[in-house]
Amino acid sequence: MGVDIKIEHLTKSFGKQLIWGDVSLTVPAGEICVMLGPSGTGKSVLLKTLIGLLKPDEGSVIIEGTDLVSCSEKDLYEIRKLFGVLFQDGAMFGSMNLYDNVAFPLREHTKKSESQIRDIVMEKMDLVGLIGAEDKLPGEISGGMRKRAGLARALVLDPEIVLFDEPDSGLDPVRTAFLNQLIVDLNAQIDATFLIVTHDINTSRTVPDNIGLLYHKHLAMFGPREMLLSSEEPVVRQFLNAQRVGPIGMSEEKDADQLAAEKDMDLPPLPPIPLQLEPSNGIPRRSQRPPGEWCRTNGVTPPPGSFLPDSVLAGGVKA
Ligand SMILES: Nc1ncnc2c1ncn2[C@@H]1O[C@H](COP(=O)(O)OP(=O)(O)OP(=O)(O)O)[C@@H](O)[C@H]1O
Ligand SMILES: [Mg+2]
Repeated sequence: MGVDIKIEHLTKSFGKQLIWGDVSLTVPAGEICVMLGPSGTGKSVLLKTLIGLLKPDEGSVIIEGTDLVSCSEKDLYEIRKLFGVLFQDGAMFGSMNLYDNVAFPLREHTKKSESQIRDIVMEKMDLVGLIGAEDKLPGEISGGMRKRAGLARALVLDPEIVLFDEPDSGLDPVRTAFLNQLIVDLNAQIDATFLIVTHDINTSRTVPDNIGLLYHKHLAMFGPREMLLSSEEPVVRQFLNAQRVGPIGMSEEKDADQLAAEKDMDLPPLPPIPLQLEPSNGIPRRSQRPPGEWCRTNGVTPPPGSFLPDSVLAGGVKA
């Protein structure tokens, strides 16, 4: 069914270095959220905090009524079973073939027989399009296949929440497009809550229901996709549209001189908000809302050309 993750006033430092402070947001059950932020803003640290691998200094992470920051080790162990995690590099065991890698969590965490395990592993391998590659070692396959194998492994315990740390890094644009479609299809099919950390602007603009942006040691904004894609807030606008003009510099913030020099520059207009990527398996998203609904309800005029089908944007004939 998917469960929500309630993050309240979360603060994390390493020694004297504050990573982020007072982060509060709710990742809604069954929806897809994307978390963005410049390199080093603590996105991976946030994911690790959400599964209890790192302890925050303050705040709480509430899942099904339990705060995993303050709960017992035993409760944390139980809550962790709700999670599937796709690590950045797939985190496969190099000496095990894909079948054994995907079967690993089942052998570790359940008492299932090998024949039950086989059914589950093959079902998940099928889901990510890896049937036939069971005997391959991780070193023998492409990066895209490793990501999909990592995804199959993240799904074997039927997670309620799936965390993805840069699922698309190192993938070519076509493989990224396929992976994005797979993520949207899986979300519709298994009905779990998805939180994706990515640097890919196209992914961020089309895949999620909600977007968050970590910047300068805090959560700059979190909300529905249309809210962030129509936002004039300088940091959000700059990041989501991959622009150089704005407060974000090559290494964190720009200095006052640079910003003053940009003051009179015309900002390029906001690009149209694209349609959300729809599941290809005929199952609607749990959170499916009509395009433009958030803008209409909130009295926001979306940028011209928003919510047009790709065929129209490409100059083709309207379907
Ligand atoms: N275990 C740790 N001990 C000390 N510092 C850490 C630890 N883990 C992360 N950090 C620091 O926390 C900061 C945020 O790291 P993190 O990996 O979360 O960034 P990120 O936003 O995921 O970056 P990227 O987009 O490059 O993956 C970095 O300055 C990093 O050095
Ligand atoms: Mg990271």
